[in-house]
Amino acid sequence: MSFDAVDVIRTKRDKGELSDEQIDWVIDAYTHGAVADEQMSSLAMAILLNGMNRREIARWTAAMIASGERMDFAKLSRPTADKHSTGGVGDKITLPLAPLVAACGVAVPQLSGRGLGHTGGTLDKLESIPGWRAALSNDELMQQLEDVGAVICAAGDGLAPADKKLYALRDVTGTVEAIPLIASSIMSKKIAEGTGALVLDVKVGTGAFMKDLADARELAETMVALGTDAGVKTVALLTDMSTPLGLTAGNALEVRESVEVLAGGGPADVVELTVALAAEMLAAAGVTDVDPAERLRDGTAMDAWRRMIAAQGGDPDADLPVAPEKHVVKAQSTGVLSGLDALAVGVAAWRLGAGRARKEDPVSAVAGVEMHAKPGDQVSEGQPLLTLHADDTSRFDRALESLADAIQISAAYTPTPLVIDRITA
Ligand code: URA
Repeated sequence: MSFDAVDVIRTKRDKGELSDEQIDWVIDAYTHGAVADEQMSSLAMAILLNGMNRREIARWTAAMIASGERMDFAKLSRPTADKHSTGGVGDKITLPLAPLVAACGVAVPQLSGRGLGHTGGTLDKLESIPGWRAALSNDELMQQLEDVGAVICAAGDGLAPADKKLYALRDVTGTVEAIPLIASSIMSKKIAEGTGALVLDVKVGTGAFMKDLADARELAETMVALGTDAGVKTVALLTDMSTPLGLTAGNALEVRESVEVLAGGGPADVVELTVALAAEMLAAAGVTDVDPAERLRDGTAMDAWRRMIAAQGGDPDADLPVAPEKHVVKAQSTGVLSGLDALAVGVAAWRLGAGRARKEDPVSAVAGVEMHAKPGDQVSEGQPLLTLHADDTSRFDRALESLADAIQISAAYTPTPLVIDRITA
């Protein structure tokens, strides 16, 4: 069936519902170039302004899945579970989490992306390990899942190509923030990837996509419903992103911290979230008799990490690169560190060279921000709070500008929970 793109746009502009046939047609026609970018951007803006109901979102997601290939892990000898985070500052959780869950008997096919803007990308982080490669064929992916149980690699071009084209368009037309479009974008890739269970880490706070709790909850509920309707056991955690996770934001810096967690140490918040997400992934995959915290302590998660890195050409024993230039930011007063803003730290890490402004830009492996205190810690005037890492000193001024109001020191601090809520179908 063929439609007129202008009629489809007018339907949504006038707050109408798109029919299943209109949705199937517009996604297919856009993927094949029969609907122009300016028409799709107009439709995306109408969706951002007027929304979509549950049926429309489910059909939109199904049409994006149908635009490409679907993977199938049914032949693997163990169940599969994946995690998706909506992105935050210092969010290195995938790195310890994938081998940890593999060490507990559940295979993790983690198809990841690169960072854009102030949030880091998992592949960029792992590429700071000498020799490690992100691109795997489907056969290599399947073999590694069977042998090691965990893969973190680049999503191939074959998965949901409609989303790839639409996401790039949304990025330059101010339409990224539409909840139906974010939910269908994320879930089309995850459902096409073929995981049996999925745990979503939906971040809330200044460093996240979703700045307020009501929006984050709506996004989480929409994604959980989409996954469940598609037969994927899906759970979401709403987690705090008002301050960075852990003590590092930057590629090699975050790998180093992840290895500390796998060695049984590391910052308490990174350990807490890694274990909470692992427990959810295991439960969603039907494994309830293994304690992930124990697998971190007894070294089996570290063994899985070493095998996972080596299987993709990386040397788990190689020294990670170190920044040639450093700049220390000191506390201006004495008191309790009551705020360390996630967005400001993310922008600083980005300006130091850890992130990219356009997707073709290179990233620095060594750049980033190292934090020496977390909210709640007592600090004294003159004490180092942050160390900025960069390839050259010219990066420091702009990074320091973004940190101008990032640090709050006061008389008291009220702790807030890291895991705010849990959303199920
Ligand atoms: N991540 C995605 O994959 N898609 C979006 O729309 C937003 C974040």
